Amino acid sequence: MRIDLLTLFPEMCETVLSESIIGRARKKGAVQICCHQIRDFAYDKHNRVDDSPFGGGMGMLLKAEPIALCIDDLIDQLGEKPHLIYMSPQGKTLTQQRVKELAKYENIAFLCGHYEGIDERIIDEYIDEEISIGDYVLTGGELPALVVADSVCRMIDGVLSDDECFQEESHFNSLLEYPQYTRPAVWRGRKVPDELMTGHHQNVQKWRREQSLLRTAEKRPDMLKTAELTKKDKEFLTKLQNSAKNNEI
Ligand SMILES: C[S@@+](CC[C@H](N)C(=O)[O-])C[C@H]1O[C@@H](n2cnc3c(N)ncnc32)[C@H](O)[C@@H]1O
Repeated sequence: MRIDLLTLFPEMCETVLSESIIGRARKKGAVQICCHQIRDFAYDKHNRVDDSPFGGGMGMLLKAEPIALCIDDLIDQLGEKPHLIYMSPQGKTLTQQRVKELAKYENIAFLCGHYEGIDERIIDEYIDEEISIGDYVLTGGELPALVVADSVCRMIDGVLSDDECFQEESHFNSLLEYPQYTRPAVWRGRKVPDELMTGHHQNVQKWRREQSLLRTAEKRPDMLKTAELTKKDKEFLTKLQNSAKNNEI
């Protein structure tokens, strides 16, 4: 897979994307990531990429043409249009489900806005999808694009090693992950649950599944509506509900 970021701050993005798991994945060729400087496509003598909005008002907007030239250059490089995402607080909020779907594209590109955002005509002309990382406003689209790029990269074959597998992680199957512990077995008087110390694989799996259900019921009950639950899961959750009711009485 190839991921491109169109931004006024390519160095900032490069720094983050060169570290740790994503940095290693890039080095071994599991994913290709390129950052492009929108300012390289400014066409006036001051290299300006922003201007004041028509109709007045606060702040500056990114002009259409430098962004358009940057996108066209990317399309020339790829030989086709990538799935082009504008990072925006007005977009659909990112979910793990959308991350899984995005990981199936050959080429995705993120356009990072800045200042008050971008000229609307770029959205009309080029953008396939707007994604928000939450209902709050940041100064630029770089951090949101890095969040999406990171979450998508983790889904690509060869990025995570087997022992970092994502399938049991929170949100993958609409459940939160079970609690985890490492050595020492007792830390400041707090013991690791006995179930994890027996070495009995089936008991460990059963305990983990139940803890996962328990956590989700406690912290994010809304997620249980879309989780795929077995008969045993449902029985366990009913028991939980009944014991909660009994405790209330
Ligand atoms: C200050 S914001 C512009 C907000 C815009 N004026 C509005 O009210 O919708 C500047 C840029 O940051 C990015 N951004 C800010 N918050 C975001 C969020 N929650 N999710 C994704 N991108 C965001 C977008 O790329 C946006 O163009």
